[in-house]
Amino acid sequence: MTSTPEIHRGLAGVYADTTEVSTVIQETNSLTYRGYAVQDLAAHHSFEAVSYLLWHGELPDEKQLAAFEAAERALRPLNRTESELLARLPETCHPMDVLRTAVSLFGAEDPREDDNGEEANLAKSLSLFAKLPTVVAAHQRRRRGLDPIAPDPRLGYAENFFHMCFGEVPDEEVVRCFEISLTLYAEHSFNASTFTARVITSTLSDLYSAVTGAIGALKGPLHGGANEAVMDMLDEVRDPADAARWLDQALAEKRKIMGFGHRVYKNGDSRVPIMQGALDRLVAQSDNPEAPRLDKLHAALREAMFERKQIHPNLDYPAGLAYHLMGFDTPVFTPIFVMSRVTGWTAHIIEQLSHNSLIRPLASYDGVAQREVPKG
Ligand code: ACO
Repeated sequence: MTSTPEIHRGLAGVYADTTEVSTVIQETNSLTYRGYAVQDLAAHHSFEAVSYLLWHGELPDEKQLAAFEAAERALRPLNRTESELLARLPETCHPMDVLRTAVSLFGAEDPREDDNGEEANLAKSLSLFAKLPTVVAAHQRRRRGLDPIAPDPRLGYAENFFHMCFGEVPDEEVVRCFEISLTLYAEHSFNASTFTARVITSTLSDLYSAVTGAIGALKGPLHGGANEAVMDMLDEVRDPADAARWLDQALAEKRKIMGFGHRVYKNGDSRVPIMQGALDRLVAQSDNPEAPRLDKLHAALREAMFERKQIHPNLDYPAGLAYHLMGFDTPVFTPIFVMSRVTGWTAHIIEQLSHNSLIRPLASYDGVAQREVPKG
C-alpha cells in the first residue's frame, strides 16, 4: 500500500523554481524587480526603462534607453492584415479575446516564431510590447463606434496610448498615474499567468503561444480580471452610504469581494500604497463629477472590508478606479494590465528557456479503483 502524498492544492506555498526577475520580500512587505524596489522604480524611471530592466537585468543608460525607445516607437503600427483581421471580430467581444487573437496572429505571421534563441525572443517581446497598445486602443475606439488613431512616434509609450484611445494626451499627472500603474503591474514572480507562460514555454513551444496562454489566465476575475470586477462592484453599490450593508450581504452570500486578498501578501499588497497615492492625486485633480462619490465609496468599502475580514485591497482595487477616472471603458482595464505584464511574462519565458525543465507535476488519484470493462 503506497502512502497518500501531500497535496498542495493551488500549489500554495510551493517553490516551483528559482527566478532572478523579481521577488516579494515578506519581512519588509516589498517587491523588487532585478533587485530594485518597485516604488523607487515607479518614482524615478519611465515604464520603458523598467521594461528594459526586466528584459536585460540592468537599467538602461541614456544611449540604451534612446535606442530602446526608438525601436519601440517604430514597431507600433499594425499591418493591413492585422488591422483587417482584428476588425472582423465581433465588436461586442471582450477586448481580452481581441488581444489573445492578436498575439496568436502575430505568431502565425512571424518567420522567427519557432526561434527560441534569446535574441529572437527579445525581439518578439519588444514587438508585442509596442503593438499591443495599438490593438487595445483600436478596440476601445471600435466599441465606441470610432475609427482607430495611428500611433504617434513623437510620443512616449504612455502618452501615445492616450493619444490612440482619445485623440489627445491628458495632463502630466494623469499620464504619471498611468505610468505608475504600468510599472506596478509589470511583474510579480510566479503569479498564475506568468506560471502559465512558463508551463507552455517548458514544452519548448514558442513565445507567442506562451503569451496567448498567459492572456487567457490573466482574464479570470481571481487574477487580472479583478480590476474590471472592482469597477463593476462600484457600479453595483453606487451609494457610499450603502457600502457596509452591501458588503455584509455579499459576504453572507459567500461572494469574493473583488480587488481584495492575495495569495502571497497576507498583510497588504506592497504595491497598493503607491497606487493609492497616485489615485488620490488623480481624484484631487479630476473634473469627472462622479469622482468624489466614487472616491468615498471606494474608501468606505475598503474600510468595511478591513473591519469585517481584516483583508487588505490588492493592486487591482486602486488601479480599477484610476483607469475609470482616466476615461477608459471597464473592459479595457485588464487589457491594459496585459500591455504591462507582457514584459514580466516574456522575461520569465526567456529565463525558463535558460534552464528549462518540462513542468509536469503529479496528481494523486482518488477516482474509482481499477475495474473490469463490461464486455459488449
Ligand atoms: N473576498 C472575500 N473573502 C476573501 C477574499 C475576498 N476577496 N479573499 C480572501 N478571502 C477569504 C477566503 O474566503 C478565505 O476565508 P475562509 O478561510 O473563511 O474560507 C480566506 O480569506 C483565505 O482566502 P483564500 O481564498 O484561501 O486565499 P487564496 O490565496 O486562495 O486567494 C485570491 C487569493 C484568489 C486573490 C482571493 O483573495 C480572491 O479571490 N480575491 C478576489 C479576486 C482578486 O481581487 N484577485 C486579484 C488578485 S491580485 C492580482 O491579480 C493583481
